[in-house]
Formats: sequence, C-alpha cells, structure tokens
Amino acid sequence: MAQVYFIGAGPGDPELLTVRGRRLIEQADVIIYADSLVNPEVCACAKEGAEVYRSSSLSLEQISGLIIEAVKQGKVVARLQSGDPGLYGAIQEQMAVLDEKGIEYQVVPGVSSLFAAAASLKTELTVPRLSQTVVITRMEGRTPVPSSESLRSLAAHRSTMAVFLSASLIEEVVAELLEGGYPPETPAAVVYRASWEDEMVVRAGLKDLAQRVKALGIKRQALILVGDFLDSKGKSAPSRLYDRGFKHEFRSS
Ligand SMILES: C[S@@+](CC[C@H](N)C(=O)[O-])C[C@H]1O[C@@H](n2cnc3c(N)ncnc32)[C@H](O)[C@@H]1O
Repeated sequence: MAQVYFIGAGPGDPELLTVRGRRLIEQADVIIYADSLVNPEVCACAKEGAEVYRSSSLSLEQISGLIIEAVKQGKVVARLQSGDPGLYGAIQEQMAVLDEKGIEYQVVPGVSSLFAAAASLKTELTVPRLSQTVVITRMEGRTPVPSSESLRSLAAHRSTMAVFLSASLIEEVVAELLEGGYPPETPAAVVYRASWEDEMVVRAGLKDLAQRVKALGIKRQALILVGDFLDSKGKSAPSRLYDRGFKHEFRSS
C-alpha cells in the first residue's frame, strides 16, 4: 500500500467524490487540500485527529516538506486536488519530488469540472455529426502555452472546445476564437462554479459571450465552452451505438 495518494476531489459538490477517494480521506492521517477550488466539506469525513492543511498559501517546497515528514513518521497522506488531478493539477512537480526521494504514491482520478459543467448544461460534448473531438485548453497566462497550441490555431477545427483558467481573459479568448475560425453565432457557454450551490450558467452566441460574462463579474472558477454541441436540437444524428441494425460485441441480434 502506498502512503501518499493524490486524489481528485471533484468539482465542488462533495457528493461528486469517488468511493475510493472518500475511503482514502477517511483513512488518511494527513490531508492537504487545494482550498482555492476544493470544497472543505470533502474533508468532513476525516478521522478524528487527522491533520488538515490548506495548500493555497503553501509553496511546492512546503507541500512536499509536509508530505515527506508525514511519510517519515509512517503516516498516510491524502493530497486533494480539484476535479481530476490529470488536468492542470500541477501534480507532475509534486510527484517528481517524491520520485527523487523514492516515496511511493498513487493517483486517484476524480470528476473534472469539465464533466460537471457538461452535466449542468445537460449536454453531450461529443454529439454525432456536430463534433467528435474535444479540445481541452487554456489561454496563456503565467504558465506558457506552446505556440503550436494557440487558441487561434485550435479554433480552426471548430470542434467542441473547453477553455480552462481563462475567465478573467474572456475578451481575449473570444477574439482569438473568432479570429481562428468559429463563426460569431457559434453557441458558447460559461459555467461558473459547476456543481456548487452558487453555480451560474451563461449561454450566448460567441460574439456576445464576453459582454455577458463581464456583466456578471465572473473572473475565475469558470469554464468557457464553445461549439455546436451546445445547440444540437434537430442537428445531430443518433449515435450508432443503440441502432437496431448495428451489431457489436454485446449485441449480436
Ligand atoms: C487549476 S485548474 C484545475 C482543473 C481541475 N483539475 C479539473 O479537472 O476540473 C482550475 C480551473 O478549472 C476550472 N474549474 C475548476 N473547478 C471548477 C468549477 N467547479 N466550475 C467551473 N470551472 C472550474 C476553472 O477553469 C479553473 O480556472
């Protein structure tokens, strides 16, 4: 059994935590959670005496220091990341420190805010005929984005697009997407704090999105979604998965 677990703590609603994630939080001696996005209620199941740390004000060295010290003392550590740790979770650098020290760890997936947002919008990201591709990206901020992945170039595909970490730059995002090739009327949405009680959903044509989002003062904890999947009524084709004539491994007749 590993002693350190990077756990996807979901998008906000504590019920959107996996069964494994919850069990490990219950067992952990030390819990370090990304309090800027993770709902503190996911720590409510911690055992009595567990040490709980918020990580938003800590540096990588401080977080790693807490983990290494706990491991030395034989403790089990739950490091809670927002959504799924595999997306913009900055776990690579945390894992590298543990690799260097020879400390075993495991990663437990979680429900990404992308999927919580799709659920709130009651939509499928991959609607047959409209898009079968999801681009997950961000606008360049302090973290650089490779030039081959500029929003403008990705927009040329006109696929379903989810833009993370960029709500404060909504005007630039929209300008890049329009320049890149999405028509101005392309359906778009911003989901603020998906799955939290104060969640807000803004739907608009791409050209009007920035104005609507700015008027509501949304600057963070929001996902920008763009693509025809947002208005699929009467335009999509049913997937062949449930087609009577489509035989596959689990349905031979
Ligand atoms: C550091 S990234 C972490 C993403 C996370 N690993 C995930 O899978 O959702 C933070 C960004 O994720 C998005 N985000 C996280 N939680 C959100 C939520 N509940 N609703 C909408 N967007 C959210 C926002 O774009 C935010 O700027």
